[in-house]
Amino acid sequence: MQEIKIDISKTLNFVSENDINELKTKVFAFQNILQSKTGAGNDFLGWLDLPSSTSKDDLSRINKTAQQLSSIADYVVIVGIGGSYLGARAVIDALSDTFCNLKTVRKNPIILYAGQNISEDYTFELLDFLKDKSFAVVVISKSGTTTEPAIAFRLLKELLEKNYSRDEAKKRIIAITDASKGALRTLSNREGYETYIIPDDVGGRFSVLTPVGLLPIVIAGIDIEKLIEGATWMENRLKSENYDDNPAALYAAIRNILYKEERKIEILVNYHPKLHSIAEWWKQLYGESEGKSFKGIFPAAVDFTTDLHSMGQWIQEGERTIFETVLSVEKPKYSVEIPFDKDNLDQLNFLAGKRIDEVNKKAELGTQIAHIDGAVPNIRISIPELNEFYLGQLIYFFEKACGISGYMLGVNPFDQPGVEAYKKNMFALLGKP
Ligand code: PA5
Repeated sequence: MQEIKIDISKTLNFVSENDINELKTKVFAFQNILQSKTGAGNDFLGWLDLPSSTSKDDLSRINKTAQQLSSIADYVVIVGIGGSYLGARAVIDALSDTFCNLKTVRKNPIILYAGQNISEDYTFELLDFLKDKSFAVVVISKSGTTTEPAIAFRLLKELLEKNYSRDEAKKRIIAITDASKGALRTLSNREGYETYIIPDDVGGRFSVLTPVGLLPIVIAGIDIEKLIEGATWMENRLKSENYDDNPAALYAAIRNILYKEERKIEILVNYHPKLHSIAEWWKQLYGESEGKSFKGIFPAAVDFTTDLHSMGQWIQEGERTIFETVLSVEKPKYSVEIPFDKDNLDQLNFLAGKRIDEVNKKAELGTQIAHIDGAVPNIRISIPELNEFYLGQLIYFFEKACGISGYMLGVNPFDQPGVEAYKKNMFALLGKP
């Protein structure tokens, strides 16, 4: 069985193996606190055993809803913000054909997103595009009261009800929300929408393996059984109390040591545009979990080699407060060779016959060597290939490492009190009664 692996050997110029080994007892003590649900935020640990407790019946209900929506809609709009859409988007972008939305022959509806901004122009353009299209809406909000998705949903619902009868509009709306609380629950009960429940003990940023992530993911044509299988595999793996078998514990340990060495910024690097949204999901997971009590590594992300031509200079020679975590995909899905050209005006014939991925991998290695020379510690996470099984592993790996890491930092990784501050000001400025 292949698995995602972590390589910390390129951090060892910056931290000592001794430090890592000395931390072992502490790391696994925090893992035990997490696992036994005895630490801070322990009422939000439902995600820990979510993969192994997701039943075939749960998945088949989600599959059925997806099929029903796909049979009536060409477009499905996912309405949600933060943890209510980032996980779904991460998996959908990582596993879909990059140009699937431009293809005329399609097996699945096109996924669009709304409710993750309050831009009037975005909203206008979306509504204008959808006004003569066959579409459906999956509205996701745990609290059921978040302003961004609530505004978007009000407008999309109005458009659906204008284009169809009220009963037909109802068939095109699925709500994912709290079992009993919040405005979206009240509205769903009144209107009779099909609903899915977000478990009370799973916070937004840890909810990708609940219907919050699974329904949009399966609508996009991605196999959620395999995703859950990969996550379950990692759930079992990460019970180990040995660094060699527990990449999450090792990742938590090394990033906390680096943080103590004044490495305040972690840059998640990828070499495939499909992984861009994984980084967006990861930024929320770590940023919202660790950034509190005036502590926490700042999670940043770059897409290489693209950003080597914009951020490369800073990473190579800017202030040395960073470390990198590289997501490396071992095997691409397709094969493309660089052709021979008899004129060779671009002088690329030395690459003729080589696969694009070989060049990409050499760019990765060359960058790693340059950045280590430039005093940037480098953690490498290798993913055997981009498929559901390994993404399931990766999601669970990052979630578990985040829980352990937050405890090591001395914060409650499962709350987000700071998110309320802007809302309070916004509502006061808007004169909310
Ligand atoms: O992780 C979190 O809790 C947040 O990012 C939420 O997911 C986000 O604010 C959306 O909240 P809600 O699902 O309640 O609309």
